[in-house]
Amino acid sequence: MKGVVFTEFLELVEDKFGLEMVDAIIQASDLESGGAYTAVGTYKFVEMVSLLTALSERTQLSIDELLYVYAQHFFKVIETSYAALLNSYTDPLELLASIEDHIHVEVRKIYPDSQLPTFKTINKTNQSLILDYHSSRAMYSFGLCLMHETFTYFGFDSKVRFQKLKSDGTHVRFFIEKGHGNRKR
Ligand code: HEM
Repeated sequence: MKGVVFTEFLELVEDKFGLEMVDAIIQASDLESGGAYTAVGTYKFVEMVSLLTALSERTQLSIDELLYVYAQHFFKVIETSYAALLNSYTDPLELLASIEDHIHVEVRKIYPDSQLPTFKTINKTNQSLILDYHSSRAMYSFGLCLMHETFTYFGFDSKVRFQKLKSDGTHVRFFIEKGHGNRKR
């Protein structure tokens, strides 16, 4: 997992819960890296799981809730650092249907060792999309939030439901509907 994911995560924890919480979860997790991350480094996913678990225990928020909140923050990073990529689309459904063949392809060019999920389009219309998520990391809640944020970014309401095709969350089917446009970009 890329260092930028860790550095931004710890920044979010500091913003929401304070620096003491950052120290506490690093102390509580047995981290190979010692908790010193650089944005361009690559670290084991188990370190993220340890940090999330330690934070979950201290906040009473579930891992899925924490991943959702984290993705709200991560989308702001995307908006700042990858604006051109976002703005090569005008329709959120088109963007979501293109993560696999375009968006994450570009991400892999920047970070060749990134660990990305697989998205497969099952069905697409002008108003809806059925998308299958596959990843050993089971970060579907992170994906759910990035979908909501994508619609908001383009000024659309949305309705996203999902169904776990595997109970551990490594294979999840998303049913995505585009709602009304509420502003022009
Ligand atoms: C992971 C970039 C859009 C779903 C990631 C990672 C990066 C990234 C850097 C971390 C990779 C690693 O740690 O090795 C981007 C950029 C985007 C974008 C630049 C837009 C311009 C989206 C959207 C979704 C999405 C719209 C919505 C479904 C995910 C998920 C992961 C991920 C679920 C977590 C890894 C996993 O589940 O295995 N993305 N992403 N991404 N991205 Fe994207």
